[in-house]
Amino acid sequence: MEAKIFFGSQAATKDTFNERKSPYNGEVVSKSPICDAGDATKALDIAQEAAKGTKLSTLSQRCNWLLDVVSKLKETKEDIAKTITDEVGKPIAFARVEVDRCIETLTLSAETMRTMHGETINTDAMPSGKKTLALFRREPAGVVVAITPFNFPLNLVAHKLGPALVAGNAVVLKPTPEAPLTAYKFAKLFIESEYAIKDALSVVYGDAEVGSALITSDIPRVISFTGSVPVGNIITKNAGIKKVGLELGGNAATFIEKTADLKLAAQRCALGAFVNSGQVCISLQRIYVDDAVYDEFAALMAEETKKLKVGSPYEDETFMGPLIDDDACERAMNWVESAIEEGAQPMLPPHREGRLFYPCVMTEVHDDMAIVCEEVFAPIVSLVRVNGFDDALPRMNNSPYGLQFSVFTNDLSITNRAIDELDAGGIVINDMPTLRFDIQPYGGVKLSGVGREGPRFAIEEMTEIKSIVIA
Ligand code: SIN
Repeated sequence: MEAKIFFGSQAATKDTFNERKSPYNGEVVSKSPICDAGDATKALDIAQEAAKGTKLSTLSQRCNWLLDVVSKLKETKEDIAKTITDEVGKPIAFARVEVDRCIETLTLSAETMRTMHGETINTDAMPSGKKTLALFRREPAGVVVAITPFNFPLNLVAHKLGPALVAGNAVVLKPTPEAPLTAYKFAKLFIESEYAIKDALSVVYGDAEVGSALITSDIPRVISFTGSVPVGNIITKNAGIKKVGLELGGNAATFIEKTADLKLAAQRCALGAFVNSGQVCISLQRIYVDDAVYDEFAALMAEETKKLKVGSPYEDETFMGPLIDDDACERAMNWVESAIEEGAQPMLPPHREGRLFYPCVMTEVHDDMAIVCEEVFAPIVSLVRVNGFDDALPRMNNSPYGLQFSVFTNDLSITNRAIDELDAGGIVINDMPTLRFDIQPYGGVKLSGVGREGPRFAIEEMTEIKSIVIA
C-alpha cells in the first residue's frame, strides 16, 4: 500500500517511489513517494501559515484532537501493529505493545497540557522591585520539525506529534524511510479527525536532501530528532538559531552487585538486552558483574536467553524477529567475531539465519572491544568481570554515551552511590536500563543527546515562555 505525502491536510503523491521490503521475507510491504528539497520547503511554508491558526486554537480542541486519534487507534490497533511488523520486522506481540504505548503517549500529552499552567512572580520580592502583576505563560514555539527512527516507528512519532500539536504548534514530520506506511496511517488519523486543525501536520518522506532542507530552513523554531550520533552532529552544525532536541544513541550498562537477586537480574537483563533484537537506544549492552557472582550470573543469563524464541515476527510467541537490514547483521557479526579473536567467549555460539540474528551472550569481555565501546544496536550482550562497585563505576562511566544505566543490588549505600555517581540521563535500580515509562523524562547526557522527551518535558522544549508584567 502507498504512503502519501501530506502537504498540510492535502494528500499528494509523486511519479517516483521507494519500495519498502519486509526485513523478514523480502516481500514488498509498502511504497512511499520520493520527496525532494522542494517538497520539504512546500511543507514548511504550509506549516508556517498553519501555525498562525494552531496558536489561536483552543486547548480543548487540541486535547479532543489527540483523544480522537486515540479512539481511532484503538479501533485500528491490529492493522497498525501488523504494518509495523511488515515494515520493520518487529514481532507482532511487541508491535501491539507499541500501539498501546502510543495510545498512552497521546493521552498523557493531552492530560499534561490541560494542567501546564504559568505562574505569577512576586516582583516586589527584590529590594529594587515593586508591586506589579507579573507572570509567565507558555506559548507554542511555532513550527516543529520531527525526524523519527525505525525502531519504534509509531510511539517515537507519538512522542513528537502529541506534545507538539497539543501545545499549539504546526509540525512537519519526516518519518524513517523504513516505515513510511506506519507513519502515513498514523498521520492520516490526525488529518482526518473532526477536531483537526487545518494544515497543522505535514508529512514528507526522504533522506538527507529532505532532512537538510528541513533543518536549515529559518521557518522551524524547533527540530526534534531521534536517531544516530552522526546525523545529530550534522543537525547541530547546520540548524542555526532554533531549539534542537536530540535523542541519540547509547551503550547502556548495568552492574550486578553481589547482594543482588541474581535470578531476577538475569531475567530482566535477558529482556533488556534482546527485546526488539537489541535495536533500542537503551538496549542493555554492557553487564558489569561482581567477580563473586560472575559464574553463577553468567549461567543464569545463558539459561534465560535460551528461552527466547527467535523466528517469524508474525507469530504471537516470537520474542525476536529480524534485524532491520543486512548491513546491521554483518556489522554485528563482524564485531562478535573480532571479540572472539581477541579472547571473548560466547556462551551461546553466534548464529545468523538470513536477518534473524540469534541472541549472543559474550563472557570474558574487555573494555576496549567494539562490542563494549560501540553502540551495537543488535542482540549482543557482554559480561565484564569486575571487583565491586568501585571497579565497575569508572568503567560504566567510561563511555562517550550516557543515556540510561542500572544497578542490581540490595545494598542501600550502592543504590545511593549509583544515583549520585553514574553519569546518565536515567538511572534504574533493580531493573534493566532498558526500562522506560512514557510519562518519565527521557534523554541523555554526553553523545546521547540534548533535551528530554516524555510529554511534559517535550512540551517544555516545544514551547516558549512569555514573561508578562502589568505595571
Ligand atoms: C529508544 O530507542 O530511544 C526508545 C526506547 C523506548 O521508547 O522504549
